[in-house]
Amino acid sequence: MQSFALLIYLLVYSTTATDAFVVRQTSNAHPQSALRSSAAGIPVTMMESVADAMSGAGPIQVDMNQYNLDPEIIANEWTAVLQPATPLQEEGIYLQAKNKRGILVDTVKIKIPRRKGKGLGLELLELAGGREDGLGITVVSGLVEGGCADGSEIMVGDSISKLQVVDAQENEIVSVSTECLSYDGTVDAILSLPPAADGQSMVITLKRLRRKPKVQVTIQYPPSMKENDVTIELFSGENLRRSMLIKGIKLNDPLARRFDIGGTGSCGAEGTCGTCSISIIRGQELLSPPGQTEQQMFRNNPRWRLSCKARVGYGLREGELVVRVNPGQWEQ
Ligand code: FES
Repeated sequence: MQSFALLIYLLVYSTTATDAFVVRQTSNAHPQSALRSSAAGIPVTMMESVADAMSGAGPIQVDMNQYNLDPEIIANEWTAVLQPATPLQEEGIYLQAKNKRGILVDTVKIKIPRRKGKGLGLELLELAGGREDGLGITVVSGLVEGGCADGSEIMVGDSISKLQVVDAQENEIVSVSTECLSYDGTVDAILSLPPAADGQSMVITLKRLRRKPKVQVTIQYPPSMKENDVTIELFSGENLRRSMLIKGIKLNDPLARRFDIGGTGSCGAEGTCGTCSISIIRGQELLSPPGQTEQQMFRNNPRWRLSCKARVGYGLREGELVVRVNPGQWEQ
């Protein structure tokens, strides 16, 4: 892991009329104060938003902006991490949240028109830098009134990871990576792009920190177990059985209807022993939907689920889930 110290720079304004029209700010200025209101009404498009760290929660079904963080928190949370190659990305240094448990790095793509003689109009703040190799962390601290990005969905605290110039048919003309660059490195990358031409747009890929959505899960034991209700807090995408076991919830319904022949004890989340079954009292919509096999198993008990096959916070929704464990014993 590689992290960077916070550096404070002097206030410098660039007044060129190119895409490098950016404003450098001191890192101790309040970023929110630099955000100007949108007045230009320039057409901008948010192309997609993907919570890459929460794939277990299924496709997004909510407005992710409800999970945005205060700019002050964001400034303290960004860090840079050396990551090995995966099928999805090359080895390299990528932005990451320090608190990976509670904060996710979302990827947002925004398309804005390029205009001759107009800069992007982004105020940039360097959180870390000063290295000879140009690495660092630079975030957006405001949008310049009248700039191409004015009125866009770009937010204070976002960090630009890629810029793509596209033509009117969305074909890429040129692109440049800006992830984990210092202020100077980011400006150099922007300056390397060709001047704006008619019909062109800029697709800006941003990394955005958001808090992870949470679900409150209240667990009720059957009266025979003489246990009090327990409430636990889980993040979207977490497996319900695994999380309950980690939190010490007593799961092992001896009266469960088994779906394995001659099996004893727990099947270890293979979906055959039924000892992890739960009955949903409230918040069914917060669980990932059952597969065909599970539906078939519980065709006579539609409110029952195998907790080993259920993830909470489906669609990145928040809410309250109430479940009864060991439902076979509830029916005694
Ligand atoms: S642990 Fe066996 S079915 Fe869930």
